Amino acid sequence: MIWVSAAGQGVFADTPAGRTPVRLVGIVRDITPRVAALRQKDVLIREMSHRVRNSLQTAMTLLELQARFVGNPAVRSQLQEAHGRIQSVAQVHRHLYQAAKVTSIAAGDYLRDLLADLAVHLLLPDSGITCSKTGDNPVLPADDVLRIGLVVNELFTNACKYAFAGWAEGTIAVVIQTDGEHIEIRVADNGVGVADGVGLGRDGHLGMTIVRSIVEQLEGTLSLEVCDGTCFRIRFPHH
Ligand SMILES: Nc1ncnc2c1ncn2[C@@H]1O[C@H](COP(=O)(O)OP(=O)(O)O)[C@@H](O)[C@H]1O
Ligand SMILES: [Mg+2]
Repeated sequence: MIWVSAAGQGVFADTPAGRTPVRLVGIVRDITPRVAALRQKDVLIREMSHRVRNSLQTAMTLLELQARFVGNPAVRSQLQEAHGRIQSVAQVHRHLYQAAKVTSIAAGDYLRDLLADLAVHLLLPDSGITCSKTGDNPVLPADDVLRIGLVVNELFTNACKYAFAGWAEGTIAVVIQTDGEHIEIRVADNGVGVADGVGLGRDGHLGMTIVRSIVEQLEGTLSLEVCDGTCFRIRFPHH
């Protein structure tokens, strides 16, 4: 099979009957080598994503091992949070490897897989805390998906850690929606709720500080809504 690009235009003559088409002039180029080079580039980028993901996987395994050797629960929890942050990045590379275009990712699918991975580490299988991910599946630039992943990781991790301390049941719902111009993400739990003044990242805690700074990079807004528990809403322009 060969690939060609063609461009041409009609030549007309003025005759007593009016303007009449006489012939077509144009050029047909064999662009097979160019198409092959582009495909090769795609294959290489995918291969890179695959390798980056494997390397991050190794880093996560090392963190898990390190956490097992630490006695202090607070330090173990910090290591687990670092693990979750790397997990968000590793999932981007996993999706880039499989994506139709090597520069964009279906954000809904990405969040579904990320939350499933995070839940394995943050929730006990019989904890009674259920998680859901619903909404749209917009295809977004990989950089935006990475930022979404880091933000949702912080909010979801907080919900798992703080919303239901000692509770038998609870739900965490993550929703992503788009109206074509904006992307909106909500992470809501029906737990104890955040204490007054805590939660929007102005109190020096790392997690919400990360959230606020990434929302700024996305030129978006972060709000804490009134609900039965805690509901964070992020809205930013569809880039
Ligand atoms: N979903 C939630 N439910 C209850 N409390 C929360 C929730 N999310 C955040 N918080 C409170 O906000 C604080 C700040 O969170 P964060 O900035 O992620 O820091 P960290 O998790 O390291 O404490 C938490 O320590 C917790 O008290
Ligand atoms: Mg946190």
